[in-house]
Amino acid sequence: MAVVEVKPGVHWVGAVDWNVRQFHGATYSTHRGTTYNAYLVEGEKYTALVDTVHAPFTDVLVGHLESLIDLDKIDYVVVNHVEMDHTGALPKIMELCPKARIYCSRRAEEPLKQHFGDLGWDMTTVKTGDTLELGGKTIHFIEAPMLHWPDSMFSFIPEDKLLMPNDAFGQHLASSQRFDDEVDNAILMDEAAKYYANILLPFNALVARKIKEIVEMGIEFDTIAPAHGIIWRTNPNQIIEAYVNWSGGVETPGRISPEVVIVFDTMWNSTELMAEAICDELSVLGCRVNLYNIGKTDYSDIIREILEAKAVVFGSPTMNNAMLPSLSSLLDALKGLKPQGKLGAVFGSHGWRGGAVKQLASSLAEAGIDVLETGVEVTWVPDSEDIAACRDLARRLDEALKTK
Ligand code: FEO
Repeated sequence: MAVVEVKPGVHWVGAVDWNVRQFHGATYSTHRGTTYNAYLVEGEKYTALVDTVHAPFTDVLVGHLESLIDLDKIDYVVVNHVEMDHTGALPKIMELCPKARIYCSRRAEEPLKQHFGDLGWDMTTVKTGDTLELGGKTIHFIEAPMLHWPDSMFSFIPEDKLLMPNDAFGQHLASSQRFDDEVDNAILMDEAAKYYANILLPFNALVARKIKEIVEMGIEFDTIAPAHGIIWRTNPNQIIEAYVNWSGGVETPGRISPEVVIVFDTMWNSTELMAEAICDELSVLGCRVNLYNIGKTDYSDIIREILEAKAVVFGSPTMNNAMLPSLSSLLDALKGLKPQGKLGAVFGSHGWRGGAVKQLASSLAEAGIDVLETGVEVTWVPDSEDIAACRDLARRLDEALKTK
């Protein structure tokens, strides 16, 4: 990939990671890869590199920078966020840019030393309102704690109406193209939604507050250049409005999302029969419903669907007095993500002894989901009465959704 001009004097110098398929351990599937975006900002007097890249892509970043400038002419490196996908290349960059001074938030200073050791870097910590003058371009710093780490901050260049918010407004989407008008919008928004659901959902209130703060600051921008994925230059308001919606529990305008997401695992098909009966009854009632066997679906994809659903229904057989462990990772993730304003229902089957349904209800409640008081638990194989009870559960959920 070649460097790409984002604004006069501002170039994308990052790297495309076509083949990464897992992010943050195995918690986030990146079916479409990702990018690590870094930006070279050349002012009339000084030059700054905003963010770096994941360590394996250091040579790509260095090559991009060398195609534009002698590295010893870089005066500043802005670290908007300490996570390694944006700082992995920092030690090499600091070695190659001997006069560069690092600008970062106060919360980033110590973690940077803990990540890389105290290498004697010249570090300046900044807060909201502080600026860095480059000559004809001024970088304004805006702290953005918990979007998504305590150290996170945004950089903004008013002369270029350019916002560089690091992880916020990003997507894990590898592409030969850099801008929103050059890629399929439905794919772009879907990846942006998955990113929001899996990374920013616990911080809904902070997202809404930060966007309000930026609006009240009177910041004018026409381009949002995040640290992952595609740069929003044609309609940056599209992603701002989506964040306002997602943080308020509203689905993406124009997207027909599932209203109910059913997730289950099954041992000998009893729980699956129950899941299918609930799904069928909901669809008969006119609900849009998606059904997932957890053993066959990546759970970060399910979280993306839960973001815009109104209700979740979980089902499991009982094994060793508990739900199947295959559901635990998703439920643990939901406890951390705490999706707001969703209804829930539970069901399951058991042989000698139950336990899964009660545990599912308790896990969903811990995730902040308002679970229907009574679930359905059947013994061995569901008979016609059990299937009727599943259909009744679907009707009770539908009624609760209508009166919500
Ligand atoms: Fe929080 Fe893209 O790292």
